[in-house]
Amino acid sequence: MNPPAVSQAKAPSKLILLGEHAVVYGHPSVAVPLDGPSSRASARLGRPGEPIGVELSDFKLAWMRGEAPSADEAKPFAALVERLVSSGLAPDNGWTLTVTSEVPIGCGLGSGASTAAAAFRAVYGLFGVPRGDSELSDDVFAVEKINHGTPSGVDNTVVSHGRPVLFRKGKELAFLAGPGTALHLAVADSGVRHKTSEVVSDVASRRREATERFDAVFSAIGALAEQGRAAFERGDARALGGLMSENHRLLASLGVSSPELETLVLKACVSGALGAKLCGAGRGGCVAALAADAAGALRLAEALKAAGAVTAFAARVGQPRLAGKGRP
Ligand code: MEV
Repeated sequence: MNPPAVSQAKAPSKLILLGEHAVVYGHPSVAVPLDGPSSRASARLGRPGEPIGVELSDFKLAWMRGEAPSADEAKPFAALVERLVSSGLAPDNGWTLTVTSEVPIGCGLGSGASTAAAAFRAVYGLFGVPRGDSELSDDVFAVEKINHGTPSGVDNTVVSHGRPVLFRKGKELAFLAGPGTALHLAVADSGVRHKTSEVVSDVASRRREATERFDAVFSAIGALAEQGRAAFERGDARALGGLMSENHRLLASLGVSSPELETLVLKACVSGALGAKLCGAGRGGCVAALAADAAGALRLAEALKAAGAVTAFAARVGQPRLAGKGRP
C-alpha cells in the first residue's frame, strides 16, 4: 500500500495540578491534558531525493535538514528530525514537516512537549511507524532535554498519553481513574515569560545552599500530590482546590512565584475559586484556578482578565476513564 501523501496530527497542552519542581527531585506530580490550546503538525511526502524540509509557521522559520537557523525555536525540531532519521523511523529525504501551535511558550502549559508530540505523530502517520504512546513519550522526552536541560518527564508523559496521570520519575506510571464528573478550571496567562531551564537550574542552585529546607518543601509538595490523586479520583473539587492553594504557597516559598502571579492567585481566591496556583516552572506563565462548575470557571476567567491577565480561558479536565498502569 502506498503511504498517504499527507499526515496530520494534534497534541494537547498540559497542566500540572500538583507537584511541579518537586517532580524534578523524584516526588510525585498530578498532571492532566488540557482541552484548551493545542499543537498541530503535518508531514508531507515531497520528491524522492529532496532534502527534508521543516517549517515552523508561528515563527516564520523554514529550513532544509542540516541548515537549521540558530533561533532557539528551531533547535528542538532540528533534533527531532535527526532522531527520526538516525533511528530509521523516517527516510533521510523526500518529506517535509510543518508545525503550528496555540500553546503559548514559557507559560507552564507544556508547549515544547505538545509541539514535539504533534510533530512525531504526524511523521509516524506519514510512514506508518507503529509507535504507541509510551514510545512517543520517549521520543518527546529526548527533544525535551534539548528544550529544558533536565526535564522530569512529566510534560512528555501527559501530552503523549493524553490522560490524567500520577507521574513519578523512574516509577511506573499511574493513569488516574475518574473523576466521575469533569473538573472546571480557569487558566490565566500573566503575560510574563519564563525559561523553564533557567528557573529549574536556579532552584537547583538555591537548593545547594539550603538543601534541607528545599528537600522538606519538595517532600511536602509530593505529599500534596498523593492526596491530590485521591481527591481527583473521587471528583472532590473542594479538597483538590485546597491542595492546589497549599501547593502554591509552598512553590512561592521556593522563590518561583512573582508579583504578577501573586496578584492573579489572590484575585482567583477572592473571586470564588476553590483553589489556585501557578503552573509549570513559575516566575511568570500561567495560573490555574479551580471552580465549582463550568459557569464558575468562566466567571473566574473574566475576573482574572480584569486583574491583568493577558488571556484567560475556561477548561475542563478529567473525563471519566478507567484507571490503569503503564510504562513511564
Ligand atoms: C515544567 O512543566 C515543570 C517543572 O517541574 C520542570 C519539570 O518537571 O521538568 C518545573
